[in-house]
Amino acid sequence: MISRSSAPAPLTVLGIETSCDETAAAVVRLDADGRAHVLSNIIRSQASEHAAFGGVVPEIAARAHISLLDRIVQSAMSEAGTGWDDLDAIAATAGPGLIGGVIVGLMTAKAVAMAAGKPLVAVNHLEGHALTARLTEDLAFPYLLLLVSGGHTQFLLVEGVGTYRRLGSTIDDAVGEAFDKTAKLLGLAYPGGPAVEQAAGNSADPTRFALPRPMLDRPGIDMSFAGLKTAVRTAAHAAAPLSPADVADLCAAFQSAVADVIGEKSRRALALFSEAYPGTPPVLVVAGGVAANGAIRQRLSQMVGEAGARLAAPPARLCTDNAAMIAWAGIERLRDAAARGESIDDRAVPPRPRWPLDANAAALLGSGRKGAKA
Ligand code: KG4
Ligand code: ZN
Repeated sequence: MISRSSAPAPLTVLGIETSCDETAAAVVRLDADGRAHVLSNIIRSQASEHAAFGGVVPEIAARAHISLLDRIVQSAMSEAGTGWDDLDAIAATAGPGLIGGVIVGLMTAKAVAMAAGKPLVAVNHLEGHALTARLTEDLAFPYLLLLVSGGHTQFLLVEGVGTYRRLGSTIDDAVGEAFDKTAKLLGLAYPGGPAVEQAAGNSADPTRFALPRPMLDRPGIDMSFAGLKTAVRTAAHAAAPLSPADVADLCAAFQSAVADVIGEKSRRALALFSEAYPGTPPVLVVAGGVAANGAIRQRLSQMVGEAGARLAAPPARLCTDNAAMIAWAGIERLRDAAARGESIDDRAVPPRPRWPLDANAAALLGSGRKGAKA
């Protein structure tokens, strides 16, 4: 619940998220006084359905979304105490993501929108992550975004709703992907990120295994995580057979290397932000599933303290995939359109497996370059 200086009309939006392996629905309301309320936020993780395969199986995910989504939407509506008439719009993830799941969520949202006579807002999943901090904190544009999820690792200048400029990114694996692959090679359960964090705990030794800090010796803010994962594999083979203490120390070493890289690259990215916006108080927003990691949050918090900047990190439950962020992105887009005297109804928008946030990347995608996954 946040106060904001500008007071838009009240807006209540149902959000639907199905782009990966969480089936989620939520209702978010923005009051006339500018306060935002998450009225309900239902998340059904499909982790147990995918665990045996060590990762998300797209066909299983799509089928599970089909069987779960109707009930999840009903729960979100009843927990929020809202009827269809109370809604101003339905917002659903229209991409990027696993296309089967995106189709299930978007088509369900279109059906609900048509039956209820409400507009549909087709939301970019990444925009959901990018704007979440404005749901949970009083935060104005522009800000620097570090987006760290299962498929993305990017620094973006967030200049307004729909206006994103990419400053840098990973040149290979996304950091969440590196967490997942590290977990798998150490025999930890899926999903990997939380498993690595849990195994590292508080008592493991992050210095026992010496892992590289890729690309810290190079200028700029691009990152690389594929080599780090390979270094974990080499260290694990050398120490095999691994005891639980070995696994814990390897996890702590991996997490510490990732935190070092992300901390230093974020410090440099904040300097670029200040060059782009001299005089604007620098704010670093961290978003996406990996932003739930305590060690990474701690490192970023320490770094912004030293840099005289501010860190905005949504609560962990709103960093990993959820539908409150989709409902909120819908509210942001409706409000932004209203300010321009426009309205939105995206019922004709198709599901998109790839959908970069920034315009430059979209142009590259159009010219045949491989895009990123969700
Ligand atoms: O944003 P998200 O929920 O889904 C995507 O849009 O990709 O991010 C999922 C990623 C996975 O790679 C997962 O292992 C990672 O976020 N993750 C974490 C943690 N929780 C989720 N990584 C490290 N520490 C965590 N606590
Ligand atoms: Zn996500």
